[in-house]
Amino acid sequence: MTQTVLIIDFGSQVTQLIARRLREQGVYCEIVPFQSADAFLAKNKPQAIILSGSPASVTEIEGPRAPQKVFELDLPVLGICYGEQLMCEQLGGKVEAGHHREFGRATLEVKEDNALFEGFWDKGARDEVWMSHGDKVTKLPPGFRVIAVSDNAPFAAIADDKRRFYGVQFHPEVAHTPRGGNLLKNFTQNIARIRPDWTMQSFRHSMIQKIRAQVGKGHVVCGLSGGVDSSVAAVLIHEAIGDQLTCIFVDTGLMRQGEGEEVVKLFRDHYNIPLVHVQAQDLFLDRLAGVSDPETKRKRIGAAFIEVFEAEAKKVGHVEFLAQGTLYPDVIESVSFTGGPSVTIKSHHNVGGLPERMNLKLVEPLRELFKDEVRALGRELGLPPAFVGRHPFPGPGLAIRVPGEITREKLDILRKADVVYLDEIRKAGLYDQIWQAFAVLLPVRTVGVMGDGRSYDFVCALRAVTSTDGMTADSYPFEHAFLARVATRIINEVKGINRVVYDVTSKPPGTIEWE
Ligand code: XMP
Repeated sequence: MTQTVLIIDFGSQVTQLIARRLREQGVYCEIVPFQSADAFLAKNKPQAIILSGSPASVTEIEGPRAPQKVFELDLPVLGICYGEQLMCEQLGGKVEAGHHREFGRATLEVKEDNALFEGFWDKGARDEVWMSHGDKVTKLPPGFRVIAVSDNAPFAAIADDKRRFYGVQFHPEVAHTPRGGNLLKNFTQNIARIRPDWTMQSFRHSMIQKIRAQVGKGHVVCGLSGGVDSSVAAVLIHEAIGDQLTCIFVDTGLMRQGEGEEVVKLFRDHYNIPLVHVQAQDLFLDRLAGVSDPETKRKRIGAAFIEVFEAEAKKVGHVEFLAQGTLYPDVIESVSFTGGPSVTIKSHHNVGGLPERMNLKLVEPLRELFKDEVRALGRELGLPPAFVGRHPFPGPGLAIRVPGEITREKLDILRKADVVYLDEIRKAGLYDQIWQAFAVLLPVRTVGVMGDGRSYDFVCALRAVTSTDGMTADSYPFEHAFLARVATRIINEVKGINRVVYDVTSKPPGTIEWE
């Protein structure tokens, strides 16, 4: 039985980082929104509980609370920021709206030795921590002592060692608290005595058992996209159930150069996984003819995909399950305080509705993993490192990198420019530092001089961003010489492009893709 830490989420922007820190240390954990914490505790027996931060205020009557049960299970509890304030309030202390917001780096001064600080902070130590709070604790609940202070937070760290309840006003999960990882490790491994034995190898073995138990003698189909997630899911499922898995790879004609062949080679030849390769390029181009609205493109592509996939899956015969490479960030319910619907910026769900339509049950072996963990699992399963390290690629593919109407010619031009750009990025050793890099073919022609003649060709925009999760991003600061080299090569080698520009927009306010 895997030992688990329950992280109760009150909506902080950095809750996922708590989970990542713990998992990096080999400790398994799950994030549950505060509204579902009661239900989770009714079914599961975690070894420790962490209360996250929140944009809300404990001083609001309506503010979110933890189930009181959290403090009655005889489990170690760590409250972070809002979590600390909440714990104080729910256990009989007092929190007041602060007049000084403390935001950013602060200096922590350790007042007492404590198990939470063991090995890195002794009494009297001063160190940097990251704060982000307005309210503050003004009276401790019975049983608690102050173990560290900062200029604006006299209760920067508090402890009730007897009950194993701890609170920190700062955020140990962020990189700006250099010793934060050690603190979380002390809490989970020394105080809660959790064994740090959650590794990709152990995950692989336990997930194989789970897949076998779920699928039994049934048959599974898996849509391969050429991306890391669906590939890792397919290889893992194949290891569990062998030829009860059939992969379907729909070639939409919207992939990058050589990507289709690479997928077929890897899965059919290397892994010997039964693979149906559907050449559906014409169908997709047909459905996209005359369409320039980005959302209509996505809808048409999604509908065409479902149509082709369904027809192929029916040919496979009696299929009960659909495998999907869903990841943990897609699963975590977001905590909403407004209750209102959020605005759809782009509809990312490429194949929504397929399981219901085909009456298939889902097999989602990556539901518990973050992207970097999926990569680690891919390496564990022996997928080639270059494949595992691939940049994310959107479901609608190059269709959303050709703003305006899509034609076969435009796609061919874009593919060639993209190859040159990525080739230079790889040669410069920058591929792994970049979250995503790609070329966009703009629906704009400009005048140029080529040799002695006039040219009137398309503009190509280059995009490269750094990001940790695709939610926010910064443009990559290439050196000018690098960009100039890429521009020269594209204009010389790709017929149809005579001008290259670089996109320096961050997200927000931009998005990563142009459509
Ligand atoms: P944006 O453009 O919204 O992209 O900043 C964030 C991440 O999502 C990818 N993306 C998509 N992925 N279907 C997908 O599967 C889509 O329709 C889609 N649109 C954007 C994008 O490549 C980036 O990684």
